[in-house]
Amino acid sequence: DGDVFKYYTDGEWKKSASGKSVAIINPTTRTTQYKVQACTQEEVNKVMESSKIAQKQWAKTPLWKRAELLHKAAAILKEHKAPIAECLVKEIAKPAKDSVTEVVRSGDLISYCAEEGVRILGEGKFLVSDSFPGNERTKYCLTSKIPLGVVLAIPPFNYPVNLAVSKIGPALIAGNSLVLKPPTQGAVACLHMVQCFHLAGFPKGLISCVTGKGSEIGDFLTMHPGVNCISFTGGDTGVAISKKAGMVPLQMELGGKDACIVLEDADLDLVAANIIKGGFSYSCVKRKLIGSVYSGQRCTAVKVVLVMESVADALVEKVNAKVAKLKVGPPEEDCDITPVVSESSANFIEGLAKDAKTKGATFCQEYKREGNLIWPLLLDNVRPDMRIAWEEPFGPIVPVIRINSIEEGIHHCNASNFGLQGCVFTKDINKAILISDAMETGTVQINSAPARGPDHFPFQDLKDSGIRSQGITNNINMMMKIKSTIPLGV
Ligand code: G3H
Repeated sequence: DGDVFKYYTDGEWKKSASGKSVAIINPTTRTTQYKVQACTQEEVNKVMESSKIAQKQWAKTPLWKRAELLHKAAAILKEHKAPIAECLVKEIAKPAKDSVTEVVRSGDLISYCAEEGVRILGEGKFLVSDSFPGNERTKYCLTSKIPLGVVLAIPPFNYPVNLAVSKIGPALIAGNSLVLKPPTQGAVACLHMVQCFHLAGFPKGLISCVTGKGSEIGDFLTMHPGVNCISFTGGDTGVAISKKAGMVPLQMELGGKDACIVLEDADLDLVAANIIKGGFSYSCVKRKLIGSVYSGQRCTAVKVVLVMESVADALVEKVNAKVAKLKVGPPEEDCDITPVVSESSANFIEGLAKDAKTKGATFCQEYKREGNLIWPLLLDNVRPDMRIAWEEPFGPIVPVIRINSIEEGIHHCNASNFGLQGCVFTKDINKAILISDAMETGTVQINSAPARGPDHFPFQDLKDSGIRSQGITNNINMMMKIKSTIPLGV
């Protein structure tokens, strides 16, 4: 059945015995674009078995060889950036240029994992017993880092390739095997990316990619006794996973309500440019400010602007002037604002806008929607009783709350159940650092919009935004454990 993309296990592309498939709906045309295999629980069991066997051998493979293969996969991935980017355009409506950038960024990330891995995994620790009271020097402790085993990676739809390799690269260099469960939207881009690892020549079973219905294999995968670590990026599903998963290390990145606090002395042109980039953009680190805008579908998007009343009118005017210039339309034309990922997502965003309207927010633009395409919207005079003040739209809508003191801004930021990132705009660096200290978020950016990258920076979250710090080095360390050997009486 040439219509349905096969899943990948034991070094081969296979059809599922279920005979069923999962449809991937193109967000722009709202018709079926691709189909992937609906794998069964029995197939997941087999994937886990071969993954476990492959990992044992891989852990004995010299570090330099693991790194060499990863460099090879990175190069192959970059060579195939065009067809993979095309899948991203069709599956998640990411603008064409940003889709290419996602693949290139992913190649760079894999190479960096290889380089970082050989540095940090080559190091160990040596301790002597007499540094602790009451002990003679009768023991030495030699510590090294060993892999966890089988890592389950579940990336989200908004960066299916990049947030898959941010888990695959660290897992593999650390000596783990990797089972990937891609998001439905983005699954075909992930299958193409996995083919690049296949072409690089990784041992069979070391990397697998299972597709299917969450209702059939979702819980089965996350609760599987063969899984030794779960790395998940996405929404509320992560909370459910953390309750069901076994006693294995979990890494979760689950979204945010990133606040942008604007003080009276801020450079308002800079703030407006960053609200456009941060509030409406999907990605990405390499495009210039105004070029990187579309649809707000990032956990790190600016999701609420908290601006001092005295400069609010001027800021709103500047942002509105920029919103008017955003190109709205299909991803193939590289528009800034493209359709959001699904109809249910568009309905949710619309619900937030309607709630704000009923409760008296000022609509700076007319609300407009065609299918999954929602025009960019700045909502002024938002108040805490509106849902948009607290909920994450994951769409091109940015609320503005006017504040009368810095404390009020910090209070709103900290009252959120999320704690991913935040940003503060001021020319007073001392004030900015004090505000950063007071904000309960994993990262605070000063005079620029929130962002995960560069990908080797630590990326962490507090409260409902997730568990553990990410970033290349942290991910490698998270996917390892310490092993000690203690020779007696040397
Ligand atoms: O959506 C969540 C991503 O981790 C955000 O990544 O800041 O590079 O867009 P980004």
